[in-house]
Amino acid sequence: MARSFAQLARTAEQGHRSVHVPKEPLDQPPLTIHRLGAKELRTAARRISKVDEAVRDLARSMLLSMYAARGIGLAAPQVGVPKQLLVIDLDIEEAATPPMVFINPEITATGAALTTYEEGCLSIPKVYLDVVRPAEVELSYRDEQGRPRRLKADGLLARCIQHEMDHLNGVLFVDHVTDALSLNEELQQHGFERDHVQSIR
Ligand code: NI
Repeated sequence: MARSFAQLARTAEQGHRSVHVPKEPLDQPPLTIHRLGAKELRTAARRISKVDEAVRDLARSMLLSMYAARGIGLAAPQVGVPKQLLVIDLDIEEAATPPMVFINPEITATGAALTTYEEGCLSIPKVYLDVVRPAEVELSYRDEQGRPRRLKADGLLARCIQHEMDHLNGVLFVDHVTDALSLNEELQQHGFERDHVQSIR
């Protein structure tokens, strides 16, 4: 069935405003993801004052780079852009599910319950270690259209949001790891230096 002209026009408009890109992994993604040891990962990100097409373009490029690496979250500092922008997609195998974009996110409340989960990061490939974080968070942010939004998240989404928001402050998940023995072992095994970790505790 052919789509009507009105439908085509609507699709074009959505295509213009939306950041939804194909999820098939590209051989040559548009952006390079910096790795542990790069100073870009330790730089605090600035707020975005205007959500415009340039911001959406950056989000699209970040998504393409994230899908290429089969990741579920990416923060702008990881691609060398010190801006408060995150992209998250917990459903990378499902083409129809739109990704989430968080601009200037702020945690407004955290649940009292803590939970342990094995995290990884596209900036520290193959390293997976347990991190303790609040199980639930509430946040405010702007979406890719610049609309103010609020969200209460739990489970993997809450975990991913907290991990990505750390990147906006130059913090990496390995900084949270309390098991020093496992940390040293994992980093060494995958070619990373312990000196590049800035332990929080
Ligand atoms: Ni990360």
